[in-house]
Amino acid sequence: LPDPEVAAPTGDDVAGLLPRPGAESDKYRRGVVGIAAGSDTYTGAAVLSAGGAVRAGAGMVRFASTAEPVRLVRARWPEAVTTVLDPSAPEGLLDEVGRVQAWVLGPGLGTGPEAHAVARAVLAADVPVLVDADGLTLVAKDRTLLRRAAPTVLTPHAGELSRLLGVPRERIEAARLDHVRRAAAELGATVLLKGSTTLVAEEHRPVRVNTTGTPWLATGGTGDVLSGITGALLAAGLSGYDAASCAAYIHGLAARIAARGGAAGGGDGRRGEAPIAALDVAEA
Ligand code: APR
Ligand code: MG
Repeated sequence: LPDPEVAAPTGDDVAGLLPRPGAESDKYRRGVVGIAAGSDTYTGAAVLSAGGAVRAGAGMVRFASTAEPVRLVRARWPEAVTTVLDPSAPEGLLDEVGRVQAWVLGPGLGTGPEAHAVARAVLAADVPVLVDADGLTLVAKDRTLLRRAAPTVLTPHAGELSRLLGVPRERIEAARLDHVRRAAAELGATVLLKGSTTLVAEEHRPVRVNTTGTPWLATGGTGDVLSGITGALLAAGLSGYDAASCAAYIHGLAARIAARGGAAGGGDGRRGEAPIAALDVAEA
């Protein structure tokens, strides 16, 4: 019997939720997404997150970080508008970057005092914020960052959820549905729990399950691409719940297309699949 507490959106469901540009569209109406990610130590996550957002159809991507990730993002994604943050005053970031409709916070950001100041500034903005990777470590250490009125989407894997809830990873793995629900209720956020299946929980809504992915996704950086895809959909105006579940669907499908050698590739089921790199997922 179908469980009313769990739902698995189909491709048609997702297609019905995704925004499509029309004659009246312009880049601002399609959604401006801000990305606060990367550090001079971790640059790759920023490039992957920006790529996810650019390729998921954001009207515009505004990327803010230190000099090195900005240099690499500009080189790989000339579409992005970039801002080099003043490391001594990262809280000035919102003024420098300008208006955005949603933020992505965290991939490769680091977890030191400057990263904390960036997180505080971004989470103080009155727009939806997606928090991933180092951003999750920061909010696990300082939950006051999550006291905000606008929607928050958290995208942990089991290890990150373990730190957020203070529950051992093995207990989360053994009862993923229970823990993703508990996190959504306790943290007042939409929570997307990554893994071989992806679960999206929000209080008072059925947990959405996604299985479009492939085990080839288990490679460094694919989660960063997901953060950018989700951010683009949030900026386009989808709710946290719809943005997270649609992004999981698209990300999994893109990975399978990439693993089969592109949209034209053959392959029956997963037998025809070959290894992929995270950037392939953004490019599929
Ligand atoms: N089958 C299908 N999908 C999978 C599988 C699998 N067996 N394993 C992983 N995935 C998917 C997840 O659902 C998720 O979308 O791959 C993606 C992996 O995302 P992350 O766990 O965030 O991994 P990654 O992108 O490598 O992130 C690296 O995250 O934990 C931090 O500090 C770490 O900076 C690092 C960053
Ligand atoms: Mg990750």
